[in-house]
Amino acid sequence: MVTSRLQSLVGADFLDLAQLQRQQLERILDLAAAIKRGRWSGTPLAGKSLALLFQKPSIRTRVSFEVAINRLGGRAVTLQDDEIGIGRRETAADVARVLDRYVDGIVARLFHHADLLALANGCRGPVINALTNASHPCQVLADLMTMREAVGRLDASTKVVFVGDGNNVVQSLMEAATLLRFQLVVICPPGYRPRPESEAAAPAVQVSADLSNVSGASIVYTDVWTSMGQESEAGHRRREFLEYQVDEQVMQLAPQAIFMHCLPAHRGEEVSEAVLEGPQSRVFDQAENRLHVQMALLALLFQAEP
Ligand code: CP
Ligand code: NVA
Repeated sequence: MVTSRLQSLVGADFLDLAQLQRQQLERILDLAAAIKRGRWSGTPLAGKSLALLFQKPSIRTRVSFEVAINRLGGRAVTLQDDEIGIGRRETAADVARVLDRYVDGIVARLFHHADLLALANGCRGPVINALTNASHPCQVLADLMTMREAVGRLDASTKVVFVGDGNNVVQSLMEAATLLRFQLVVICPPGYRPRPESEAAAPAVQVSADLSNVSGASIVYTDVWTSMGQESEAGHRRREFLEYQVDEQVMQLAPQAIFMHCLPAHRGEEVSEAVLEGPQSRVFDQAENRLHVQMALLALLFQAEP
C-alpha cells in the first residue's frame, strides 16, 4: 500500500487537497476502505486531544470527527463560534497560540480561509480544514471514497459531473480531479463559475452552462445553491439556478450514474425528492464515508505506519 518514496503525512496540516501527492491521497482512501471493512484499527490518538472549532453549523463534520477521534483513542473538545469569537473576541493567530499550549491538533470550520492559514501558522500540531468559504477537502475525501465504491479506481475514463454553484465543494473536487486525473465537468449558470484562479489551476476541468453535458457521466453531484453565509442571496439564487435542478430527466441523461450530494439537501431546489430518494442516490453512503475517511486521515497525520 505504501511506497518508500511517499512523503509522510505525519504532523502535516490538511488544508487542501492540492497540497497532497497523488500517492498520499490514494493512501488515505485505501486506509479508509480498510477501516470500513474492519481490516484496520488502532489508537494513534491515545492521550491526545484535538480542538474542533465551528463558525458555521454542522452535523456530519462535527459528529464524524468527534466519533473518529474517540475511536482512535483521543479526546475532542468542540467549541462553537459564540464561545471563541474568532476575529471579534480574539484573532485567529492568538487563538492558535493559546490552543497550541493545550491540544495536539485543530479541526476548524471557518468563514475565511485566511483564518485557517493563521491557525496553521500558530499551532505546531496538525490543523485540518473542516470547510471554509474557499474549500471543503474532508468532504471530497469522502466523495472520492464513495465514487471508488461505485466505479472502482478513478482515472481518465471516469466522468464526474457537478451541477450547481461553483462553490467550496467544487474547488476541492477540481483539486481532486487534477490529482487523480478523472474527467470533471462543472455545469453552472454563467455568473456562478468557479473562481478564475481555480479554473486556471485546473485547465483539464470543463466548465459549461449546458445540462446536456451530464450525458455519459458515471457520477452526477450537486450541492446547495446557497451556501452557509450567503443566506441573504437565497431568493436571487433560487431564480438564477432554476434551470439547474437535478431531477429524473437530468438523471436519465446518465442512466448508469450514481447521484451524490454532500448534504444538507434542499429537496425541490438543487435536487428533486425523486432523485434524492431514488435508486441512483448514494448520499447516505457518502455521509457515512466521512467517518471512515477522517479516521484514515487522522491516523496518517498522527502515526507513521498504521
Ligand atoms: N457535508 C457537510 O459538511 O455536512 P455538515 O455541514 O453537516 O457538516
Ligand atoms: N457548499 C455548502 C457545503 C455544505 C456542507 C456550504 O458551504 O454551505
